[in-house]
Amino acid sequence: LTIYRKDYTPPAFLVDTVELGFDLDPHRTIVANRITMQRNPDGTNCDIVLHGEEIELVQLRMNGKVLQAGEYSIEGVLLTIKNAPDQVVLEIETVCVPVENTTLSGLYVSNGNFFTQCEAEGFRRITYFPDRPDVMAKYTVMLRADKATYPVLLSNGNLIEEGDLGDGRHYAKWEDPFKKPSYLFALVAAKLVCQEETYTLNSGRDVLLQVWVEDGNLDKTDYAMQSLKNSIRWDEERFGLELDLDRFMIVAVGDFNMGAMENKGLNIFNTKFVLANPRVATDIDYAGIEAVVGHEYFHNWTGNRVTCRDWFQLSLKEGLTVFRDQEFSADMIGSDSGRAVTRIDQVRTLRQAQFPEDAGPMSHPVRPDSFVEINNFYTVTVYEKGAEVVRMYQTLVGRDGFRKGMDLYFERHDGQAVTCDDFRAAMADANGRDLRQFERWYSQAGTPVVTARTRYDAVKRNFDIILSQRSNHPDQLPFHIPVAVGLLGEDGRALPLTLDGGTQEQGATTVVLELTEQEQIFRFRNIDERPTPSILRDFSAPVILEYDYTDDELLHLFRHDSDPVNRWEAGQRLAMARLLKLTAQVAAKQDKPLKLDTTFLDAQRALLIDDTLDPAFRELALILPSEGIIAEQMDVVDPHAIHTARQFMRRTIGTELRAELLAQYHANQTPGEYSPDALSAGKRALKNLCLSYLLVTPDAVTLSLAQHQCEQAGNMTDRFAALVALIHSGVDASAYLQRFYDDFSSEALVIDKWFAMQAATPATDVAAVRKLMAHPAFTLKNPNRARSLLFNFTNANPSQFHAADGSAYAFWAEHVIKLDAINPQVAARFARSMDRWRRYAPALQAKMKAALEQVAAQTKLSNDVLEVITKALAN
Ligand code: ARG
Ligand code: ZN
Repeated sequence: LTIYRKDYTPPAFLVDTVELGFDLDPHRTIVANRITMQRNPDGTNCDIVLHGEEIELVQLRMNGKVLQAGEYSIEGVLLTIKNAPDQVVLEIETVCVPVENTTLSGLYVSNGNFFTQCEAEGFRRITYFPDRPDVMAKYTVMLRADKATYPVLLSNGNLIEEGDLGDGRHYAKWEDPFKKPSYLFALVAAKLVCQEETYTLNSGRDVLLQVWVEDGNLDKTDYAMQSLKNSIRWDEERFGLELDLDRFMIVAVGDFNMGAMENKGLNIFNTKFVLANPRVATDIDYAGIEAVVGHEYFHNWTGNRVTCRDWFQLSLKEGLTVFRDQEFSADMIGSDSGRAVTRIDQVRTLRQAQFPEDAGPMSHPVRPDSFVEINNFYTVTVYEKGAEVVRMYQTLVGRDGFRKGMDLYFERHDGQAVTCDDFRAAMADANGRDLRQFERWYSQAGTPVVTARTRYDAVKRNFDIILSQRSNHPDQLPFHIPVAVGLLGEDGRALPLTLDGGTQEQGATTVVLELTEQEQIFRFRNIDERPTPSILRDFSAPVILEYDYTDDELLHLFRHDSDPVNRWEAGQRLAMARLLKLTAQVAAKQDKPLKLDTTFLDAQRALLIDDTLDPAFRELALILPSEGIIAEQMDVVDPHAIHTARQFMRRTIGTELRAELLAQYHANQTPGEYSPDALSAGKRALKNLCLSYLLVTPDAVTLSLAQHQCEQAGNMTDRFAALVALIHSGVDASAYLQRFYDDFSSEALVIDKWFAMQAATPATDVAAVRKLMAHPAFTLKNPNRARSLLFNFTNANPSQFHAADGSAYAFWAEHVIKLDAINPQVAARFARSMDRWRRYAPALQAKMKAALEQVAAQTKLSNDVLEVITKALAN
């Protein structure tokens, strides 16, 4: 069942060309597949091995001759032809039933239209093929379908022919000039409309750009198109990478397992990451569209032109492409402070999702050593930690050095399927650096802990930072960790740094220390006063930093650090210390009333009203660590105590800072036409955070502000925020909820929000979720809808998910099983809500375990769910 990285062997046969013919019918689609193959000189045998799943084989011919039952074998998903000749033409006819395909992998029907999703192993659900990424071939695709029902026929590459077939059917022939692995194949046969535009590349070449959507959605495609053009320009300018096709298409589909897919020339997107206008989409949605459009576009080079040798190398393309989309989004904002805000968001994601994953039962290295189901490894570790690993190269070799490494990577590997080691070698060789130890970031799982100690010698004017590293895994070797540091003087100034044995620029105020051993001492000279160290600036490595900061030092950093990430971080540390103390006090059921010190409140107040700071930064600095992040700091998690403590802090901030919050609420309005730009979005974020604090204990004034905003808002960001504030305030908001529903009942993505906001409200218990599931607009079959209600309940409403009677755990088990029968990928994601079960108090733990065992006892589980549940129970 388990597949190991060490067992990799090259394919015995390579494919030159693939010709596919589709007769598309939702109930019976016939696929004719003609493959020309030849022996791989690097192969170890001469057996042809093809994959196939849930398809009916009608006929198989080899070099013109029909193969009889005894001339090949089918075992599980493998079709084997033993001792094949060196040159082979296979002709394979199969049948599949797209309308019954609820897994959304392979060829499926969504709202009456045909779509495909082949990554990672969906192509084998369409036809027999060596469905592995190191088999790259040229594809020609003939699509035939009813013309009235499916007027638009799309596939990868260029349209080379189209016409009528006479019988009400029509055809289109597509040719992809580039070799690609099967996971990048795509087709769309649908009734769609498009926004299109001719775009001129920097080289002067014209390309056709299209965004395809259902009729009625053309008022929501501008931002995706603009983001696509920005992505094309950015990749030319930052990395010298040009679009290699004459035509680039984005297609939106309402039923989709993930965010989007980078199929060559034919990106297929979850509607969530395409459709936006001010009325229906929030600032966060706009940012998501920009990031995902960029991400899929950037895959054209990092993923498609150079792909992965095997799925263990997934982070080769995903970590790198996430890093590229992060840099793209940051560059689109332009300002240093805007860039910092995107960086803080990345750190929050890592702490909220990746650190827990890396400490839980599904922990795996960025380059996993084994898996049962590859779809379970499209994780925050492979994606986001993978991006951090790529970012560390840039931190170590500099921006120009990183570009040199990228250039060498493409020079060496264009058109190939390669490994993470190949990427590392390109970075090392292009920069004359030894990056052998850096490999451990790919092979060792878990979040390293870096501990810092400092000492100041006033006589010698030396300041030492002693860094050490450790991991929870006893046999792990030290990582190569870039630790960016700066020193603050008593007046808050950044001190110029002279590192002993270092080579930093004259006057530099940040240096990157390279921690490669278990412990190292770094000495700074000519330091006239005991400084406050700012360690791990810009979050220069995905580690947990331990340093015994005093409150005074943190307040100093929170007021003055020129590194925005560490300035924010200081605030988070101040808040976390208080949250943990309050949580312990609640848990101990002491009679003493909870209290929040004025020092903290004054620091928050000062930051809130500091107009020299970006509103977006202020918003981030004022959000308290989430209940999930607090839970990660505790040995035994008490979700109810955490919730009570955090709510107390929010309420206290809301009442103590009422005047300032109100003032900032009014000062950060964005009148006039809506624009999703970073400054406006930041103002809205700060304003709406103020509103949410004010509404923890609503009064006539604040309540009417929220109600007014809910009724009058000219954009979804403000309307959504006001409604969320209202439903969290405890006052009856049902009329506002109903109004929201009625206004947007035909906008699926907004109805998702409607379910999501209710699921994440602390007042929504499992009974209320069941009631919402009975709503006519709810369905488990649509992944976005299922996620909006179920996932938001289990992941974003911890005080109800962990209800003492265990009723929500039973609900979870019931729906893992239900979802698994429909869509294993979605079910397995949902199953992971239980990952951290061992960290809860014994009474809860027992109930969680029972729920896990209930799922495990099912006889018909998918590999996807089985792997998640088995690992949860085992580790
Ligand atoms: N390569 C896609 C992306 O990152 C993700 C598709 C993964 N799909 C899946 N079913 N595992 O953009
Ligand atoms: Zn990707």
